[in-house]
Amino acid sequence: MNLLMCPVCRKALVLAERTWRCASNHSYDVAKQGYVNLHVVQHKHSKNPGDTPESVQARRAFLSAGFYAPLQHAVVELIRHLHIENLIDIGCGEGYYTDAMQTEVLQCVGVDIAKNAVQVAAKLNKNVTWVVGTGAILPVLDQSVDLCSSLFSPIPEQEILRALKQNGYLLVVTPATEHLYAMRDALFDEVNPHEPNKFVDQLSQNFELMRDVVVDAPMTLQQQDLKNLIAMTPYAYKAKAELRTALEEKENFELKAQFQIYLFKKKS
Ligand SMILES: C[S@@+](CC[C@H](N)C(=O)[O-])C[C@H]1O[C@@H](n2cnc3c(N)ncnc32)[C@H](O)[C@@H]1O
Ligand SMILES: [Zn+2]
Repeated sequence: MNLLMCPVCRKALVLAERTWRCASNHSYDVAKQGYVNLHVVQHKHSKNPGDTPESVQARRAFLSAGFYAPLQHAVVELIRHLHIENLIDIGCGEGYYTDAMQTEVLQCVGVDIAKNAVQVAAKLNKNVTWVVGTGAILPVLDQSVDLCSSLFSPIPEQEILRALKQNGYLLVVTPATEHLYAMRDALFDEVNPHEPNKFVDQLSQNFELMRDVVVDAPMTLQQQDLKNLIAMTPYAYKAKAELRTALEEKENFELKAQFQIYLFKKKS
């Protein structure tokens, strides 16, 4: 079954050779790296939206070193028990979690607004349909997916409702209260606690909370790993330059990542 939707006329896209085409003859070529760009000009607000190439590279280096593997394993484990056919990962970034989730489902779409992230992601896994696109118009047909995931990414609620089948699931991962506390303490005069609960409130009208899991990932970082972590988070540009530099000079740094996983079910 084809999942992809034409962003212009909203009809189904069919792949022939290396081109996705709809019945109205809008066409989108698969790039040589193996992704398709469905982010059409009329929906674009900036030329190079999303994460910068530097933060994508930093995230790839940090994640591939395995520091967030406990989260990757927890997400895969959770999905395994749901017996999902079709999944769309919203804001897939450079694909670390999408790649792992794909092995548990029949069809997997990864979408991100940052072309440079999707280009890097496409090299990881040929069994994922990688799409440059926006969460504002998810590139999938109405009621076509069993699970939408959003890991540290936007949660376009109305689009998720449209894309999900009846009784479909929404998986949200967001920083838990103690996430990277030691790092934030070193970078800011005042540390605001993360409030993962707000998502449960925001989504409560249309989604029922099914699972609530907190995952801890304690780690000791060497200097380069620490620099990568700083560069891949929004703290990089929010912190005062002198505090960032002082932290980046540390040769060893102990801290704990803490993730909040929420699994929701679409209310019928
Ligand atoms: C913090 S990153 C998380 C990436 C990945 N899920 C991970 O955990 O490694 C957030 C991602 O959301 C993407 N993003 C931001 N706004 C978006 C939008 N409107 N539509 C699709 N993706 C978006 C960014 O480009 C970025 O890759
Ligand atoms: Zn079309």
